[in-house]
Amino acid sequence: MQNPTPLATVSFTLDGQAVDAPAGSTILDAARAAGVEVPTLCYHPNLTANAVCRLCVVEVAGARTLQPACVAMVQPGMTVETASERVNTARRVILELLASTVDLHDAPEILEQVERSGADVDRFAGGRRRAFDLMDDNPFYVRDYAQCVMCWRCIQVCAEDVQYTFALTWGGRGLGSHVTTFFEEDLPDTTCVFCGNCVAVCPTGALKGKVEFAMEEGLV
Ligand code: FES
Repeated sequence: MQNPTPLATVSFTLDGQAVDAPAGSTILDAARAAGVEVPTLCYHPNLTANAVCRLCVVEVAGARTLQPACVAMVQPGMTVETASERVNTARRVILELLASTVDLHDAPEILEQVERSGADVDRFAGGRRRAFDLMDDNPFYVRDYAQCVMCWRCIQVCAEDVQYTFALTWGGRGLGSHVTTFFEEDLPDTTCVFCGNCVAVCPTGALKGKVEFAMEEGLV
């Protein structure tokens, strides 16, 4: 028996509207093409989506859990809500929990989402926070993992998505989880070529060029 011809276009319902999207699209791509904004944090258009932040969740009729729009594919006949009460509550709580452990003062993309969602960044204040010393081990940029939201963008851009350097990896557990190098080596002792791509894709102040850092700190 012949395999059925794959659909070129998928029709589904998005926030009550009939929408067509190319087969294989993510819900996020389809929503944005239809003019519907879905907030994202870890997603970057030039990088592989790892769906680690869950800020982009949407409600899919019949699905037990909210679905991350950046990786969930459109399916024929599905019904998707991008701004239901359940979705908005989840997004607010994600941002509130993030703010309870991470220093977000230098994260404009995220602060904009906080503003839009109405999240209360002090809701879970007073608990333990991510605590890391500023790392200054090279001539080009500093790392402040107290500001890291663990979006994986820097790891992806350093690896097969762009640079193929593989200088960065992941270490630790819980509040101690952090981006690091293999064997926790200083950056100059790794394969890092200081291309700056990790700094460019970082959505917070966790990675910063030294000149920018020095100017902000009034050191020059
Ligand atoms: S943007 Fe989709 S999970 Fe982070």
